[in-house]
Amino acid sequence: MGDILTLDDLRLVAKRRLPRMVFDFIDGGAEDERTLRANREAFERRTFEPRLLSTAAERDQSVTVLGERLATPVLLAPTGLSRLAGPGGETAAAKAAQKRGTVSVISSASSVAVGEVGRSVERPQWFQLYPWGDWELTSALMDRAKAAGVTTLVLTLDVPVTGARERDYRNGMTIPVRINPRTAFDVLSHPAWALKVLTGKRITMANLVGLREGHGSSAASLAQLNLSLLNPSYSWDDVRRVRDYWAGRLVLKGIMGAADARRSVDAGADGVIVSNHGGRQADAIPASLDVLADVAAEIGTEAEILFDGGIRRGTDVVMALALGARAVLVGRPWMYGLAAGGQSGVEKMFDILSTEIDRTLALVGARSIADLDASFVRNRPGTFV
Ligand code: FNR
Repeated sequence: MGDILTLDDLRLVAKRRLPRMVFDFIDGGAEDERTLRANREAFERRTFEPRLLSTAAERDQSVTVLGERLATPVLLAPTGLSRLAGPGGETAAAKAAQKRGTVSVISSASSVAVGEVGRSVERPQWFQLYPWGDWELTSALMDRAKAAGVTTLVLTLDVPVTGARERDYRNGMTIPVRINPRTAFDVLSHPAWALKVLTGKRITMANLVGLREGHGSSAASLAQLNLSLLNPSYSWDDVRRVRDYWAGRLVLKGIMGAADARRSVDAGADGVIVSNHGGRQADAIPASLDVLADVAAEIGTEAEILFDGGIRRGTDVVMALALGARAVLVGRPWMYGLAAGGQSGVEKMFDILSTEIDRTLALVGARSIADLDASFVRNRPGTFV
């Protein structure tokens, strides 16, 4: 991995190593992928106004997020089935995050159960929950997360139904996976991946195993169970019910505007994640960066604001923090890192971002994250934000 300089380089290695159906499952977005592209374009539409002669010999990029001190303002976003990207999956990712002084958010759809991840690392992890209709299973999953030592629950609100990821439909990455000559060739032409990933322990949504009595444990049946539990009529009262049950910190994910940010605070959230699910759910909604300042203006003094969507550079991290985020999450980049080099690939991803964050702080003229505010950010001339 010596010649990898950027997160985009990690993506290209992942693209070579993974069968196309797996790479596209990670890389793709919903429908025309307008929101996916918008997430990146929003960073390109903004620039910094550097403040000269105001940095320090040593910059401090540590932050406190919901009472937890993190060495870098980057967390790993919850992503399902990460063992498809590389062996170790969520455990490898959590170990990498711990080594770099930060945390990962374990997805409900993770391929390693939250309890198993919890036993592999000392640092308590965060856990993500879907808006399920079945309270018995929801509370059972929260109990498992609590037993695993999870400090913070992330409730994802932008999945009333799943987005239409058309690359997956085309590639046969469906439930069950569609095997035809093309998908078979796709897998067989990546023998190193097939050997490492397919010959290991079966890849399933591990948190769901044994959750419903009598429910099979095949990958397809658990994925089906996950889908069937989604509840399009989930309401703010359901959020309050989770709030009342979960004694730890609660963060709501998928907030894309001031009004829902306000409702989140009213429902008792300790924090929100400004996120459009990496452009994988609704298409043709704004870039997360384009709504961040509005959310910060509405609830910035009452709850902590996290951000995800399109972070690929240290400059992106610094820009999101300047516009009101306390920390950011990355989704695809850590899966690319995992595909490129297992746990060390994820560590590499952290190292690239940390070096870039540090250099950016120096170049824009900030000694620490606390120095950043919106006055550092300009719209690129000739663009409307
Ligand atoms: C996700 N994301 C996601 N979010 C969530 O709340 N629960 C989940 O299970 C998943 N699963 C998932 C799988 C894959 C393969 C990806 C790429 C993403 C969304 C994720 O948490 C995050 O919001 C986005 O990935 C952020 O955008 P970037 O960093 O990928 O641009």
